[in-house]
Amino acid sequence: MTTAGLWLVAALAAAGSAVALSPKIGNTVLNDPTSNTQQFGAGKASIKQVRNPTYEFNGALAVLKTHLKYGTSAPDYLVRAMLATSSASRAEVLRRSTGSAAAVPINDMDTAYITPVTIGTPPQTLWLDFDSGSSDLWVFSNYMPPAQLGGQTPYAPNKSTSATQLGGHSWSIRYGDGSNSGGNVFVDTVTVGGLTVANQSIGCAQQVSSSFTREMHMDGLAGLGFGTLNTIRPQKQPTFFDNIKKTLDKPLFTSDLKHRAEGTYDFGYIDPAKHSTPITYTPVNPSPGYWTFTTSGYGVGSNFTATPLTGIADTGTTLLYLPDSVVRAYYSKVPGAVDARQTYGGVVFPCDAAAPDFVIGIGAARIAIPAKIMAYAPVTRGSKTCFGGLQSSGGLGVNIFGDAALKAAFVVFEAGEVPRIGWAGKKLGF
Ligand SMILES: *[C@@H]1O[C@H](CO)[C@@H](O)[C@H](O)[C@H]1NC(C)=O
Ligand SMILES: *[C@@H]1O[C@H](CO)[C@@H](O)[C@H](O)[C@H]1NC(C)=O
Ligand SMILES: *[C@@H]1O[C@H](CO)[C@@H](O)[C@H](O)[C@H]1NC(C)=O
Repeated sequence: MTTAGLWLVAALAAAGSAVALSPKIGNTVLNDPTSNTQQFGAGKASIKQVRNPTYEFNGALAVLKTHLKYGTSAPDYLVRAMLATSSASRAEVLRRSTGSAAAVPINDMDTAYITPVTIGTPPQTLWLDFDSGSSDLWVFSNYMPPAQLGGQTPYAPNKSTSATQLGGHSWSIRYGDGSNSGGNVFVDTVTVGGLTVANQSIGCAQQVSSSFTREMHMDGLAGLGFGTLNTIRPQKQPTFFDNIKKTLDKPLFTSDLKHRAEGTYDFGYIDPAKHSTPITYTPVNPSPGYWTFTTSGYGVGSNFTATPLTGIADTGTTLLYLPDSVVRAYYSKVPGAVDARQTYGGVVFPCDAAAPDFVIGIGAARIAIPAKIMAYAPVTRGSKTCFGGLQSSGGLGVNIFGDAALKAAFVVFEAGEVPRIGWAGKKLGF
């Protein structure tokens, strides 16, 4: 798994080394986002996620991007719905639908969460989307044509004394429509939430597709999937989590994503204050690299159906995608719900509808997603019609437990000998 020539150091893992890191933290400028980092003892880190305050939700775009991420072509109705509801130019939307180079990227910030990460010496701070549905750490860089930078902070390896190029290696992520982002590979120091990997492989973008450029608040992605999905060639490289895992108290990270608020990713420990019910674990099948697990069933309000659903836990996908039968069972109980895929790209309903909880069964435990999350976001700014948090996975080829499900829970991603995922309820605070 570990690649020859790469070593890691967890600055806080070895006793006494916390001191070595503190000058860096002491030097951060006043509004440095890394000051959100909370320091803990050895082998632990907590990162507060900071929500992009300028995001505008577009349901059709969210569904379309999920299609592209999982390599399936986008249905025509989604493109038409985007034209009707998105501020993206017609030309840009049409380019996406015809599969040209300007197509929709793997992850965007519509409803994603970005986390500050420092790279290099002296540290450069970039805000990355932590994505359990992919396994590359890649960033905007000063190798890109300036026209492809849309306000992002590019990583400048030539301004880092600790950067070395990983010769002969490159990375490339292709999307369902044939477009791609890619570049060369550098090895540098990466610090996340006070945990440092000295020699982390970083995909330096030389080109990105246009909708990445439009996400001005996202400087790149940090994959939290299993290493098998890594796209660096000829030799795959370990993810940040792969590298840091051995030095953590426990080989896990947890997500506490929040609805319209700052949440956290924690590495190496479970914070008992972040969940209010016991954690129930279920096995994970890490092949081909996703956090794949199987529920014990699903429920609509108090009506639980013991039909297991296999899917992936994906922090980098906005919504919850399940089979049509489940989508129908849920929305038949939501007053005013309509399948508006031609207009908006999916099921919509009045934002204030008395919608029942959607329930996920994890073993004997039940995780309830309340109406407030199920009414994911207004279809257009100010609208009283909301895009549903649950949409059809038909056509995607995979069920996805994205942010709409993860936000309702405290989730443990444990990559020990036998990988497993744990779900617990939490106080939602709304
Ligand atoms: C990182 O890699 C470089 C070059 O391969 C090596 O010289 C250096 O010792 C490594 N650093 C650590 C801390 O392992
Ligand atoms: C780093 O590289 C960029 C892009 O090639 C260049 O514009 C810049 O001047 C370089 N900076 C330094 C300090 O060498
Ligand atoms: C409970 O859910 C199942 C599966 O969706 C459905 O067939 C059944 O009609 C529901 N029962 C009630 C009382 O709504």
